[in-house]
Amino acid sequence: MADNKKTATLSFGDQTLELPIFTPTAGPDVIDIRKLYADGGVFTYDPGFTSTASCDSQITFIDGKKGELLHRGYPIDQLAENSHYLEVCYLLLYGELPTADELDDFEMRVTKHTMVHEQMHNFFRGFRRDAHPMATMVGVVGAMSAFYHDSTDISDPWQREVAAIRMIAKLPTIAAMAYKYSIGQPFVYPQNDLDYASNFLRMCFAVPAEEYEVNPILSRAMDRIFMLHADHEQNASTSTVRLAGSSGANPFACIAAGIACLWGPAHGGANQAALEMLKEIGTPNKIPEYIERAKDKDDPFRLMGFGHRVYKNFDPRAKVMKQSADEVLDLLGIEDNPTLQVAKELEAKALQDDYFTDKKLFPNVDFYSGIILEAMGFPTSMFTPIFALSRTVGWISQWREMIGDPQQKIGRPRQLYKGATSRSYVDVENR
Ligand code: ACO
Repeated sequence: MADNKKTATLSFGDQTLELPIFTPTAGPDVIDIRKLYADGGVFTYDPGFTSTASCDSQITFIDGKKGELLHRGYPIDQLAENSHYLEVCYLLLYGELPTADELDDFEMRVTKHTMVHEQMHNFFRGFRRDAHPMATMVGVVGAMSAFYHDSTDISDPWQREVAAIRMIAKLPTIAAMAYKYSIGQPFVYPQNDLDYASNFLRMCFAVPAEEYEVNPILSRAMDRIFMLHADHEQNASTSTVRLAGSSGANPFACIAAGIACLWGPAHGGANQAALEMLKEIGTPNKIPEYIERAKDKDDPFRLMGFGHRVYKNFDPRAKVMKQSADEVLDLLGIEDNPTLQVAKELEAKALQDDYFTDKKLFPNVDFYSGIILEAMGFPTSMFTPIFALSRTVGWISQWREMIGDPQQKIGRPRQLYKGATSRSYVDVENR
């Protein structure tokens, strides 16, 4: 917890400032610079926020050096082994593992909200069929505030709660609808006697013309993918959600902002990019060529699914994902999958190469998730929407924590200005 007893001394020019230091429950000490500008007239410079804590939080902790990820103190590998997605959602939202009754009640509340407003079907139909499902999701999730305005008043705790449940319940329906629309098939309504992951698989792969039976092995693997992506503390998309929410914007608009940020290939888009890269490599004999390209400073190519801003040791989620990939391909009877072979050999070769070990570049969660999703039958364009629906609980938990924080104020970073100083306007004929 913060103790404020330790201080750091900062000297510059003829000034010396004593800055309070907070000691967290885990992780490095944090120097409090909130009064730096008021007391010292200077800003700090930290593009990409590599050394800046933007908030205090009790939800998720990552130790990048140890390769540790904790949700409310529970290690991700224990959760992946013993828990399931909706229980992890409860944990992230409310801070404790639920009792059996609390879990039943929570699951019932989520299940009762899985359908979307019927009018939303028309909204989907306004998109081009060939739109990327992420493009559709950014639009549709943003539009939820137009459909559910009885849960947009952020000052009302009950409305905040309903908005959270609505988003956890409806994101799988929206992601599945985006997919169905893109392939020209009819939307499949949720079926509430199925668990969360099975329901999603059914909404994606069932058609009205046939019975659809959910494979429990695939459903378990799907649930695990949801769990492994549920939250990851103050990453780019979560910080985007917090920054959007800091102005008082409604939660649906904030989550849409998070989805937009997640889409980029350096973040959530990496799982699609990683699988596409593995397929482009195609055969193990081409791996050295791609490794050389990744190391070449003049070539913009990077090994997708490798490296992480925080993990400078193995990504603990990647370990579980690798194991899951093996299990799913095995159980589906997909032996000698060439993409998996390339992935394993690429990982092995990169980990023997000084470039990657010196820079502490290890496979991240996205390196293996694409292989599992493809084996399940998802096209690459659905990988990031699946990440988005899994991460929604993390975003909404972090947003709720921020709204409930009495210290919360609108986010407003400063800048190191390097542009022109004040000059006079010149008429067009004199330029
Ligand atoms: N392949 C080759 N070189 C790399 C890679 C990579 N995947 N990642 C980083 N490097 C190199 C950089 O060129 C840089 O080299 P330099 O010091 O000689 O200039 C060094 O390693 C540090 O890289 P940064 O980009 O400064 O590291 P940062 O922590 O800012 O970036 C990031 C992390 C964006 C994830 C990066 O590793 C990357 O682009 N990886 C590929 C994309 C990816 O897999 N993203 C998924 C992230 S996980 C997630 O969102 C769930």
